[in-house]
Amino acid sequence: MSRIVVTGGAGRLGRSVVTALADAGHEVFSFDREKLEGLAAEQVSVDLLDPDETRRAFERIRPAVVVHLAAIAVPGALPDPDIFRINTQLVWSVLAAALDSGTGSLLLASSPTVIGYGSPSGWAPERLPLDEDHPVAPWNGYAASKVAMEQIVQMAVRQHGDRMSFGVFRPCYVIAPEEWAGAPTQQGHTVAERIADPTLSAVALFNYVDARDAGEFVAAWIAGASDVPNGSTFFVGAPDALADGDTAVAVRAHLPALAPLSHQLTGTESVFSSARAERLLGWRATRLWRDQLTRTPVPQEATR
Ligand SMILES: NC(=O)c1ccc[n+]([C@@H]2O[C@H](COP(=O)([O-])OP(=O)(O)OC[C@H]3O[C@@H](n4cnc5c(N)ncnc54)[C@H](O)[C@@H]3O)[C@@H](O)[C@H]2O)c1
Repeated sequence: MSRIVVTGGAGRLGRSVVTALADAGHEVFSFDREKLEGLAAEQVSVDLLDPDETRRAFERIRPAVVVHLAAIAVPGALPDPDIFRINTQLVWSVLAAALDSGTGSLLLASSPTVIGYGSPSGWAPERLPLDEDHPVAPWNGYAASKVAMEQIVQMAVRQHGDRMSFGVFRPCYVIAPEEWAGAPTQQGHTVAERIADPTLSAVALFNYVDARDAGEFVAAWIAGASDVPNGSTFFVGAPDALADGDTAVAVRAHLPALAPLSHQLTGTESVFSSARAERLLGWRATRLWRDQLTRTPVPQEATR
């Protein structure tokens, strides 16, 4: 059992990460500006943008592990310069406090958007499915902040890798448990609407992950971090695409830039490969949309 700080523990993903870690027997602390009733963690109110406040909170808890999720999590939620400044500042603040308080390992949430899909000036993959070695090409402030955050972690590996384990994961479009039954997803529509109107899911290349599976990935990383190369990056997604029918058919219909490589996808397979997480950590998402989705009536306007 470890003492674990989850930053952003009250968030969409954080809640399931906290639950998975508590279920695995860890002592969990949520460092967040928000509090959430019923969270299986001691909730510490802290503005992580304030380095002194952050340092004091870490000194009190002295966690063995930090899972850093707190961020502006939606591209376009703020102007690009603000998202970049806030997200990178949060990493500096949390990293410094973790180092000072003797933390042994730190896992950072990045994003698949670093890859560059959706760029207004055009983007095409080098190969499919996309793996962690595929080049990144951020085109907005959110994705640029995530590339910078990943680079700060790689810098920390070079500076402190002899005494601390670091990791990066790129969760796909996170679907919280209640969203299968019709609660709005991060983009405001429901999962059923996302399936019914493929253009909604195509913008994320049909990727998704159940938040509980992502939480279990975090638990698997904590258990195995010392046995994998320091600073390893992982895509964390469901093995299938969030699309009705074969992925290659959906890709050809809605993602012309990927169409020439669509033959490299088999059946319902995801455009993103999470094979590294399975190979190195024994983790594989098990909650698939075809099993999870409680088909709720889809409003007419979503199908037009
Ligand atoms: N939701 C997704 O689909 C998705 C996909 C890929 C990556 N991610 C990444 O995963 C992480 C979590 O995403 P989420 O969807 O749970 O986001 P969220 O917005 O639901 O949660 C973020 C949490 O961080 C907290 N926070 C933000 N700024 C803070 C500050 N200064 N001090 C203290 N707490 C602060 C917020 O209060 C919130 O509870 C983010 O880093 C996000 O970029 C999310």
